Amino acid sequence: MAVSNRHLLQIEGMHPPQISSLLDLAESYVLLNRSGKTQRDLLRGRTLINLFFEDSTRTRTSFELAGKRLGADVINMSVSTSSVNKGETLLDTAATLNAMMCDLLVVRHSQSGAPNLLAQKVDAAVINAGDGTHEHPTQALLDALTIRRRRGRLEGLKIAICGDVLHSRVARSNIHLLSAMGSRVRVVGPPTLIPAECERLGVEVFHDMAQGLRDCDVVMALRLQRERMTGGQVPSAREYFRFYGLDFEKLSHAKPDALVMHPGPMNRGVEIDSAVADDPVRSVIKEQVEMGVAVRMAVLDVLARANRRNV
Ligand code: CP
Repeated sequence: MAVSNRHLLQIEGMHPPQISSLLDLAESYVLLNRSGKTQRDLLRGRTLINLFFEDSTRTRTSFELAGKRLGADVINMSVSTSSVNKGETLLDTAATLNAMMCDLLVVRHSQSGAPNLLAQKVDAAVINAGDGTHEHPTQALLDALTIRRRRGRLEGLKIAICGDVLHSRVARSNIHLLSAMGSRVRVVGPPTLIPAECERLGVEVFHDMAQGLRDCDVVMALRLQRERMTGGQVPSAREYFRFYGLDFEKLSHAKPDALVMHPGPMNRGVEIDSAVADDPVRSVIKEQVEMGVAVRMAVLDVLARANRRNV
């Protein structure tokens, strides 16, 4: 996988065959999940530690579920009650967990690059569960799996990623993955929330939703990340919704059967209208969550096989 075969740190640098084979494996886990069966032999005797320095509902829970379904011992480390509060550094915390023979370390951190740093210091396989504004690789994989299951392919699809692209690690991972797989990616948002690097990454940039969504197969709304904003990058939630909130009027510019996606958590009435988010035909938001478990099972499977500890 990216950087080395031992860790999953980012989508950038991953090759299409690697991505396809992970999605194929995840596909088999979708069926296993639905059947209610587990494969407890696969990670029996392996320890997975969830180390989340930022809040999470979907990612942390689905890694826990994925690990347990494959037979791992799963520990959710509560950072808020850990020795991090006594001043222990990230690297010392990781070294401590390493000494406990952790096999798989799932890390979310507010600093871009934190999982890459840990990967150089620990024996465990490190999985990036979202680092700052850098990447969220398993989110892009689960998004791709959702689209591929609905449309049968990724190649040639026109996909709009809308809203706060500047602060979005989800957008960055999706741009890398979807572009590598031959989708035609465009970003749509106010100039203050579109990073300069976008055009270098080969995506088209739009500041108007009607133009940006025209004839799109997939429309992905992003959460407005006020917690990462330093200045007045958006006027008010109401004003933002008027121009960039995904409602049925704006969605009407996309293809009539365009899929609606959102990585969650959603700010209803800010970047997406509730009626669109809950539309049973167009919205695949709940399916994204389901695919998250399957994708994380596939990632744990591949990394556990690649990281057999010598005992
Ligand atoms: N999409 C996502 O990363 O959600 P959580 O923050 O709930 O994990």
